[in-house]
Amino acid sequence: MKVKLSYRLLFVLFTKWASAQTYRRLGGCPTLGCVFPPDQADFLAGQYFDIRVEVHAPKNGSEAIGLPPDKHFKFTIAKGTEEPKPVTEYFGLQEPELEAWGHSWYEDLFAEDEQKPSIADVTSKAYRRVALHEPGAEYTATLSYNNGSTTKATWLVRDLQDVRKTKNIILFIGDGMTTNMITAARLMAHKSINGKYQSTMQMDKFPVLGHQMTHSLDSFITDSANSASALYTGHKSSVNCLGVYADSSQDPFDDPKVETIAELFHRLTGGSVGIVSTAMISDATPGALTAHTRLRDEHPAVIDSFLNGITNYTWTEWSGPDVLFGGGAELFYSPALGGEGYQGKDYYEEFAKRGYQVLWNQTSLADANISEKALGIFTEGNMATWLDRNVYATNAQKFLSPSGDQTPALDQPGLENMTVKAIEILHQRSADKGFFLMSEAASIDKAMHKLDYNRALGELLELDQTIKASFEQLDELGIRKETLVLVTADHGHGFDVMGSVDTKYLAAQDTDRKKRSAIGTYEKSGLSQYTNTGNLTYVDANFPSNWDPRYALFQGLTGTPDHRENFRVNKEGRTPAVVVDGEAVVNPDDAKDGITRDGTLPVSEQQGVHSLTDVPVFAEGPCQELFGGVYNNVDIFFKMAGCLGLARGQDEGR
Ligand SMILES: *[C@@H]1O[C@H](CO)[C@@H](O)[C@H](O)[C@H]1NC(C)=O
Ligand SMILES: *[C@@H]1O[C@H](CO)[C@@H](O)[C@H](O)[C@H]1NC(C)=O
Ligand SMILES: *[C@@H]1O[C@H](CO)[C@@H](O)[C@H](O)[C@H]1NC(C)=O
Ligand SMILES: *[C@@H]1O[C@H](CO)[C@@H](O)[C@H](O)[C@H]1NC(C)=O
Ligand SMILES: *[C@@H]1O[C@H](CO)[C@@H](O)[C@H](O)[C@H]1NC(C)=O
Ligand SMILES: *[C@@H]1O[C@H](CO)[C@@H](O)[C@H](O)[C@H]1NC(C)=O
Ligand SMILES: *[C@@H]1O[C@H](CO)[C@@H](O)[C@H](O)[C@H]1NC(C)=O
Repeated sequence: MKVKLSYRLLFVLFTKWASAQTYRRLGGCPTLGCVFPPDQADFLAGQYFDIRVEVHAPKNGSEAIGLPPDKHFKFTIAKGTEEPKPVTEYFGLQEPELEAWGHSWYEDLFAEDEQKPSIADVTSKAYRRVALHEPGAEYTATLSYNNGSTTKATWLVRDLQDVRKTKNIILFIGDGMTTNMITAARLMAHKSINGKYQSTMQMDKFPVLGHQMTHSLDSFITDSANSASALYTGHKSSVNCLGVYADSSQDPFDDPKVETIAELFHRLTGGSVGIVSTAMISDATPGALTAHTRLRDEHPAVIDSFLNGITNYTWTEWSGPDVLFGGGAELFYSPALGGEGYQGKDYYEEFAKRGYQVLWNQTSLADANISEKALGIFTEGNMATWLDRNVYATNAQKFLSPSGDQTPALDQPGLENMTVKAIEILHQRSADKGFFLMSEAASIDKAMHKLDYNRALGELLELDQTIKASFEQLDELGIRKETLVLVTADHGHGFDVMGSVDTKYLAAQDTDRKKRSAIGTYEKSGLSQYTNTGNLTYVDANFPSNWDPRYALFQGLTGTPDHRENFRVNKEGRTPAVVVDGEAVVNPDDAKDGITRDGTLPVSEQQGVHSLTDVPVFAEGPCQELFGGVYNNVDIFFKMAGCLGLARGQDEGR
């Protein structure tokens, strides 16, 4: 009794740590007993997932209460008001091994400054590859530990429509794209007369618009791994996670997994999956469709997951995507050429062995056989941006050939040609089974991080052009009515346009205070000087005709390192800050005639950061009506899964 009381007292004393913010012992686990999937998790009927439970015994720091590691915790599950059953009995599993490890974390910035981590002993069990099958059912998972403490998680199997309404889905993701950016891109590319646009974006023409909330399980600002996992699995997760919940173990591959829309669709329908991105193809947004790791930077393993599913842990007969297009050649070519393939393998060979045609340039992409699976890797690293391919084309010299021979990659396709080809191949190969295609404009985000606004908006306009070309392709194939097209983002950046800037006047002034007079707000903002004047220099009317006008957009980001702004297009690409003596400072070579801006971020940050804003969701096609309104990012998974008829709770794979 005495003991119990003192525990309670300690609990009261230390509840202040429940407000831990900068650092937490483990984001998804505020108490000493952890259940993953955590409280409030929703499932698709029949969706495979892993369960992990952990009991933490802090040895020092504010939560240390002198308890030994608990090796005898109990874990039960109850459906509705039924009697709880041991989870092993409920799912018909063997009792798993008890695992144990040490865990350390900083409790706050003071502890970090003093280099005094808190440490804990962790005991844990993982229950792999289970599923809940009854739509509408609610479950209570209960972890009982430390002789009387409990952690409960309420889980819900969503009751969704189970009739397949769409044959195909194309999910466009403008990485980091916000409504503010779409507005700015429209102003740059589309001409208006007396306040009326003479043409609009393809995105402006969608019949249904919604907003999704992007915050994550344990932080209100997300990264692309975390948010891609939410969009693809219906489960909120943590920063850096691909298709898993983050546990506290060191191993980045043992975290509890959740089956993704690509895996489910392929397993339940046999339909084809396509993955297209302008980033290196192992990047978070494409990677999260098949990878399951706590660390998005496990790039070689992410590539292997495209081909092999989860190594030694296959949900099902995963046979790889039918289309995989993007950058990241260094993860494919032979180690003899310096390649960094998983386990030292040449992944061009690994894919070719499985019947993939390997494409390295626009020429071979155009000639590709649409009856065969295709791996298209067009450069090392991220692909060239639209601006670098079309306007400042000498920059393309900086990209290295996918062959690994260190020559430049001069014949790279853009998002448009990759996506249109992907649709052709997927349609041809999937026949009546249908396809799921994710196409990502990755460098909207990558350029925004570098405060390279025009390059980012060029990527956004290329995405818009790609959507338009995709509709034309769907029309040509006669499948537009059976294809749900979605356009959304994974998170935002704090970007907006506040007026215009006379860049000539700005450059001519000597002091920062005088340079600020060059900024025109309200009536002095004038009209867009980028818009198409009728003299089509580049491609067509979907892009600006002049990227470097005297009167430029007064645009910027909240949340930046120290930098300078002259508001002109960065012809070579931008590096706003450099690190000197461990701190990010203004890049002396960037925007030399610009205004110096004090950074607002920690001096460890060289780039801009993501922001909280809800992001738009555009929908056209079967089920489009589901996508209006304001909802959570995880709801997009459930809406897509319902529309594809994946919610029947079947378990054909077992
Ligand atoms: C906890 O113990 C470890 C190992 O002895 C030590 O390095 C660390 O500084 C301690 N942390 C605190 C908060 O006392
Ligand atoms: C639970 O109680 C038993 C018996 O009193 C004791 O041996 C054990 O150390 C306790 N375990 C924990 C984690 O408190
Ligand atoms: C997969 O299993 C094989 C055979 O059991 C083993 O040799 C290999 O190391 C495992 N790979 C991984 C990534 O666990
Ligand atoms: C284009 O890629 C193909 C492989 O897809 C390769 O055989 C060919 O040599 C490449 N062409 C050039 C000019 O690099
Ligand atoms: C395209 O691939 C299919 C299936 O492998 C094959 O039958 C056909 O001959 C190929 N077409 C061409 C032009 O190579
Ligand atoms: C797209 O493909 C067409 C047809 O092959 C080609 O003419 C065009 O140059 C390509 N565009 C880009 C940006 O590569
Ligand atoms: C369009 O091009 C013509 C011919 O090059 C030129 O004379 C004219 O000034 C241009 N118009 C605009 C608005 O740029």
